[in-house]
Amino acid sequence: MEIIPRGIEVVVRAPAKLNLCLEVLGRRSDGYHELETVMQTISIYDELTFENAEGPTRLVTESPDVPHGADNLVVRAAEALCEHAGRTRGALIRLQKGIPVGAGLGGGSSDCAAALVALNRLWALDLPREALHALASRLGSDIAFFLHGGTALCRGRGEKVSPLENVPPLTYVVVCPALSVSTKEVYENFGLSLTTDSFNTKLLLEDLSKCGSSGTFPNFFNRLEAVTVELHKPLKLLARQMTDSGLERVTMTGSGSAFFGVTRGRKEARESIEKLKRLTVGKVFLAESVG
Ligand code: C5P
Repeated sequence: MEIIPRGIEVVVRAPAKLNLCLEVLGRRSDGYHELETVMQTISIYDELTFENAEGPTRLVTESPDVPHGADNLVVRAAEALCEHAGRTRGALIRLQKGIPVGAGLGGGSSDCAAALVALNRLWALDLPREALHALASRLGSDIAFFLHGGTALCRGRGEKVSPLENVPPLTYVVVCPALSVSTKEVYENFGLSLTTDSFNTKLLLEDLSKCGSSGTFPNFFNRLEAVTVELHKPLKLLARQMTDSGLERVTMTGSGSAFFGVTRGRKEARESIEKLKRLTVGKVFLAESVG
């Protein structure tokens, strides 16, 4: 996450994420599912601007897809910080969306983490990392990951974050089809009996550590992919079109609907993007790993 103090404002570029693997380990008593996932921040960004306001926190955005008012994670982050620090005055927050909403790219969670870090700075609260982490875990599942960024193995609902060092950067093509997926519906339709041992987080971690030197690509996987594709059949065609365009290891991120594939470099990525754009598959991005 990039934080730029600019006069009386703080500006943050909040990155998207990919789930390089996602394993569902079981159902929990709180209704959530226990996950094991490797997440990676990538170069698709939202931009947020924070400045002090006299009244309560207000979020301004031109994006029609972003939830308004207290339903927005950015506003909830500001309110949680105010409550924690005993502050009564809020902030004016402007949000420019670059990350597609509801695609499994984590935009809402990344914006929320950006708000925690930026307002901690703007309001000179000096809360330590652990306090921000505790607030992030309370606000949602993926938010704590975005406080770290880079590559990390995440467990629990995603909030137990173990950063992974020295993972070679990769070049991705990400496609967001014009199709909205309900995370809740995907998990409701997920049968744990579907789980076999054919996917393996440990193998993915080994692949990641050596992919720079071996010239091979990691075996990405997503245990939710079969369920989402079953619920939204056009995604099967999308995955095939992405593979046919020259992308390797085409996989879904989060609970969908975005898919990603990997390439040797930018030139190959641009060639795939050209082909995919002719097929009008949705929004297509070239994205690279960011720290
Ligand atoms: O994280 P989010 O609030 O988008 O999740 C929506 C729903 O998906 C949850 O209410 C829950 O039913 C399901 N879910 C789950 N296990 C997770 C994450 C989400 O069962 N780890």
